[in-house]
Amino acid sequence: MQTHTTGGYSPGLDAIETASRDEISALQLKRMRDTLHRAYEHSPFYRKNFDAHGVHPDDLKSLEDLSKFPFTVKQDLRDNYPFGMFAVPREKLARLHASSGTTGKPTVVGYTLGDIDMWAQMVARSIYASGGRPGDLVHVSYGYGLFTGGLGAHYGAEKLGCTVVPISGGMTERQVMLIDDFKPRVIMVTPSYMLSILDEFRNQGLDPRESSLKVGIFGAEPWTNSMREEIETAFDMDAVDIYGLSEIIGPGVANECVETKDGLHIWEDHFYPEVIDPETGKVLPDGEMGELVFTSLTKEAFPIIRYRTRDLTRLLPGTARSMRRMEKVTGRSDDMMIIRGVNVFPTQIEEQILKCRILAPHYQIELTREGRMDRMAIKVEASGSGLGDEDRKQGANELRHHVKSVVGVTVEVEVLDPGGVERSAGKARRVVDLRSA
Ligand code: DLL
Repeated sequence: MQTHTTGGYSPGLDAIETASRDEISALQLKRMRDTLHRAYEHSPFYRKNFDAHGVHPDDLKSLEDLSKFPFTVKQDLRDNYPFGMFAVPREKLARLHASSGTTGKPTVVGYTLGDIDMWAQMVARSIYASGGRPGDLVHVSYGYGLFTGGLGAHYGAEKLGCTVVPISGGMTERQVMLIDDFKPRVIMVTPSYMLSILDEFRNQGLDPRESSLKVGIFGAEPWTNSMREEIETAFDMDAVDIYGLSEIIGPGVANECVETKDGLHIWEDHFYPEVIDPETGKVLPDGEMGELVFTSLTKEAFPIIRYRTRDLTRLLPGTARSMRRMEKVTGRSDDMMIIRGVNVFPTQIEEQILKCRILAPHYQIELTREGRMDRMAIKVEASGSGLGDEDRKQGANELRHHVKSVVGVTVEVEVLDPGGVERSAGKARRVVDLRSA
């Protein structure tokens, strides 16, 4: 079996990151062929799926031919629970992770030692692109456990040669104490939990701008450029976006470069992206908005072909690296709300909240139905506990006005006390849908 271990890993810019497009495409084609063969020969699921669609790995002559192959969707992982998708015997797996899955069984993913090493390299590359360097102290507040965030960040930071503080999520007071005492230069955490850490800094009377933190690597949930500004100003740090999903590997599928902060470079030597029309499944040209689809190019235990992520974005040409970028994810198709015919994503609401100085960016959206009308209520916190009723009313009016004029929907706004919106130590729950209740 071919492995992609790093015998010769050395921290820093990898030559392939700035290679010519021709070199990148040639490597992708070779690796894509290997992956299709590995999947077909070792995974009964893929053999059946390819046969049913009348395609064979030998049909791949160019990268574009990938569109002949069938998609993989989350339901396929559920149907083959727990180990039915793997291309190696269970004994060859070094690790399992699983995604939470709010209802029913989780979806399970597996890694060989080679996969874990490749993943660690991709996260190391991501941290480096974010401005982290060997020797940095890295505070990891992504959750450890079956979620890929904590361990994924951890192995990557170690691979780069950093000192890792594996604190995981939660116990915010202690997070702040350790940041103050250990003086990490880098923090890896969900952007929403970073805001809780920010509040705790202030509670403890510490000036976040005086903290040692200089680089924040934020992901696992959608967040906006306005939120970036908010965090960068509050902490006097660079805030950079990291993307990934368990089915592909975990964090480190794509990452922004700190020097440009213009979208996330996809590590295309290991993950091949397509953007499709979510309705028709047709591949869209670069630059057009649609659903992101990934094919792994080097994974051993769980090669994944044309996985539909449900994340909406578009592909853009490379800038700081030769590899293509994906625009910051607008949201998941599952999170799209349709309010009286208008499509709305939580990120659009977030942008409007961040325009209102009286409001803090802790928010949750509640959907209810009155008759046949969908109703959207935004619960959002006041930016300080000293704000009176008049201020809150003004904040609510301001937000209602921005949402109406920019997003185009009428919403109700409830301004709560600081701490009034449900907090999470990981991914924030932005939408509470009470319509079927
Ligand atoms: O969230 C992996 C991860 C951990 C990424 C830590 C970044 C940092 P899952 O739990 O499988 O894996 O969830 C994957 O989260 O399909 C997106 O919908 C969302 N997501 C992840 N990163 C971003 C991001 C991890 N930077 C799902 N921006 C994905 C927007 C993101 N959404």
